[in-house]
This record gives sequence, structure tokens and C-alpha cells, in this order.
Amino acid sequence: MKKIYFVFAILVVSICSCSDATLTDGPKEYLVLPEQPYAYDQLNLPQGTSPTIFDDFGFINGQPVFNGKMEVTPWGATLGRVLFYDKKLSLNNTVACASCHHQDKAFSDGKQFSTGFEGRVTTRNSMAIINPILQNNLFWDSRSQSIHDLSLRPVINHIEMGMDNLDNLVGKLENTDYYKPLFLKAFGTEDISPENISKAISQFVASITTNRSRFDISQKDGSSNLNSLEIMGMELFNSDKAKCASCHGGGNMAAQDGPNDPYGSGGGSFGSPTDDLKGATNIGLELDYADNGLGNGRFRIPSLRNIDLTSPYMHDGRFNTLEEVIDHYTNGVKPHKNLDVKFTDGHGNLKRLDLNSIEKKAIIAFLKTLTDTEMTKDPKWSNPFRS
Ligand code: HEC
Ligand code: HEC
Repeated sequence: MKKIYFVFAILVVSICSCSDATLTDGPKEYLVLPEQPYAYDQLNLPQGTSPTIFDDFGFINGQPVFNGKMEVTPWGATLGRVLFYDKKLSLNNTVACASCHHQDKAFSDGKQFSTGFEGRVTTRNSMAIINPILQNNLFWDSRSQSIHDLSLRPVINHIEMGMDNLDNLVGKLENTDYYKPLFLKAFGTEDISPENISKAISQFVASITTNRSRFDISQKDGSSNLNSLEIMGMELFNSDKAKCASCHGGGNMAAQDGPNDPYGSGGGSFGSPTDDLKGATNIGLELDYADNGLGNGRFRIPSLRNIDLTSPYMHDGRFNTLEEVIDHYTNGVKPHKNLDVKFTDGHGNLKRLDLNSIEKKAIIAFLKTLTDTEMTKDPKWSNPFRS
């Protein structure tokens, strides 16, 4: 297929080396965007997922539904892509969203903790971005319920990007030549506002979807391209013995936290029926947590899609390998007072998972079938800057 690139910035680079003086030390970067935007509004979600209605996005059969607040449009998400990769969003032009969210690692960064503005280090492990449109709760402690609400937080967070004043950000973008035409295309106005910056980033983040792993293909075909060890692992994953799917469940292999789900607002078998567990639980990593997450050592049950790409694991990146994670479930779970009842015998006594070494290998083999390399290479989510 012949690709026509529209080089937005040729002009910018030549006439605007003045404002480039404030750019990073590295080689000068210029922006390359396709003439026609990618179809960000065509979302590929996993089979068996029923799209969640966020407060700002809704999707029905993979199609975005405008519910009065926001929708994903090809130009909106294109602008979001540029913002996501642009280091100008940080106070000293050194950190972009993409510094801690790498496409080739399913948007995690491979580090226990990440380095943000002026070398400051985050206190939690950078999260992969996995079908965020299917998550009711965002962040390790489920503290955000909307991508829109989340999208400017890292920018104003001093550790991550250090931008303490959104008016400064608006001013900076106004002085960057490629933004006005992009805002015009995305929102019909050259006016740059924090609200529209946030909307565009949200649209890009919302467009990140993954459903093309070997596991997905085998589900779609009905035929199995999985080997016998992987199939054994899949069966165990879904079994009462290993219990994985009872937490990492459904098509997104993540918290079941819709209304009336076990970890949702219905409270299911845990908590009172009025509690909203926000998709989070305590898996006994500690007897006494330094970081209590959502409270009582509860952290969001993350999606296991692309898990082979996103080590190290857990909210504090304490485990480097999937073997260490499974060993935690079989040997490491601690009897914390708020431990999920699935790790007890029903009388409050600790009961870790019982899996032999072949079973552990099988589960890990299955987890590795959840890798979607199409997503990690898809140009629509890639860095649009060239140097
Ligand atoms: C310095 C590293 C760093 C930067 C820069 C950064 N993030 Fe993050 N991101 C993190 C960490 C760490 C978490 C988990 C934080 C927590 O749970 O408290 C996270 C969580 C997220 C999540 C939640 C995913 C989920 O499933 O809940 C999204 C989405 C996200 N970041 C998007 C962004 C966007 C958009 C930007 C730029 C505006 C950005 N991040 C900049 C480190 C970073
Ligand atoms: C009771 C619910 C529950 C069960 C059962 C459970 N998990 Fe988890 N899992 C969690 C929670 C909660 C976390 C995040 C904990 C944290 O970071 O503090 C997690 C984290 C993980 C992670 C790390 C994810 C990441 O992005 O860092 C992996 C891998 C994992 N679980 C695999 C499994 C497998 C495999 C099984 C079955 C053998 C399983 N889990 C059973 C709740 C559960």
C-alpha cells in the first residue's frame, strides 16, 4: 500500500528553529503524520467484552457513542497521539507520557519505578494501557473513574511531568507551530484550552485496544492454534483450582467490577451489598502494607492481556518474572486481615493455591498466548516524531 505522508512540520522546522531552542538536548525532532488520519474510531475489542459506559465515553458494538460529553474522532485522537509523545508537555521538555508508557511494552516501561520530571521517581510501577475503555476504574488504586479525568493528572503531577500551571502549558503549545492546525482539525477551533488538551489525550488513550493475540485468534476461529501445554494452562486458569479467572476474568481478563459483579458495586460475595469494591482486592503481598492502595492493601485487579510484555509485576514492580508471580500465589500469600477470602479455607485460615510445577508451567505458557504484537507495532499508536 502506498503511504502518503503529510509532513506537517517541514515549514515549522525551517522557520521555527527559534522556539526549538527550548527543546531537549537531543537531535531536533519533526512531526510526521499521515495525510488521512487513522481510523481511531474503529475499536477492536476482545470477544465477549461488553463495552463499559464511562461517564464520558460509551461504546456499543465497538462503535463510539456520543453521550453528550465526548467521542473518539480520528483527528481528535491524532492530536492526542502528538500530545502523548510530545516532551513539551513537561516543564523542562524532557518527559512525555510515552517516556513511561512504551508501545513495544504494551505501554508500560519495563522498570520497577519510573523516572519523571528532574529525575524524580514514581512510587508505583508504570501501568500498561490495556483496553482502558473496558476499565471502570483506573490506576493501581482505582482512584479515577474516567480517562478524561485522568489525562491531565500526570502533566500537573510534579513527579511525572512537573507542569504546575496549565496556562503555561497552553502558552507553550500556542507557540508550537504544529498545534494550531491540529486543534483546528480536532475541535474546529485554533483556541487551545486545557479542556481540549485533555479531551484529545483521552481520545488517544481510549483508542488503545488490544484483541489480536494468539489466544484471541484461537477464540475467533473456534480452532485451536494453541499447543497442549497452553490449552492445559487455559483450562487451569479458568478452574476453581487456580482461580485466576475468578479475579482476572471476562474477555479483558481483568476485574469483574460492573454493577452486581463480585468486585463491583454490588459487592457480590464480599463486603456489604452497598460496597463498591472498585475492582480491587488484597492478595496478601504484605502483612503490613507501606502503600495501602485503595485502603487495606487492596489494589486493582489488572488485565493479564500482554502480561509477557509488562514486567516487572504488581503495583510496586516487586516481581520480575511470571514464575515469581505464580510462586507468590502458591507459597507467598500472607494472612493479612483483609486478605481476599479466595485465599482462605472459608473459616478465615490461610489457604494458598495448590499448583504443581507442571501446572505452573502450563499457566505461564497460557499467559504468553495473550501477547498482541499487532498492537505493539500498530502505526496509529506509534511515535509521530522523527529526528
Ligand atoms: C514518570 C512516568 C509517567 C508519566 C510521564 C506518565 N505516566 Fe501514566 N502512569 C505512570 C504510573 C506510575 C502509573 C500508575 C500510577 C498509580 O497507579 O498511582 C500510570 C498510570 C497511567 C494510566 C492508568 C492505566 C490503567 O489501566 O489504569 C494511564 C491511562 C496513563 N498512566 C496515561 C498517561 C498519560 C496520558 C500520560 C501523559 C499525559 C502519562 N500517563 C504520563 C507513569 C507515568
Ligand atoms: C483474589 C483475586 C485474585 C486471584 C485469585 C488471582 N489474582 Fe492475580 N492479581 C490480583 C490483584 C489484586 C493483583 C494486583 C496486586 C497488586 O499489585 O498489589 C494481581 C496481579 C497479578 C499479576 C501482575 C499483573 C501486573 O500487571 O503487574 C499477574 C501476572 C497475576 N496477578 C496473575 C494471576 C494468575 C496467573 C492467577 C491464577 C493462578 C491469579 N493472578 C489469581 C488478584 C488476583
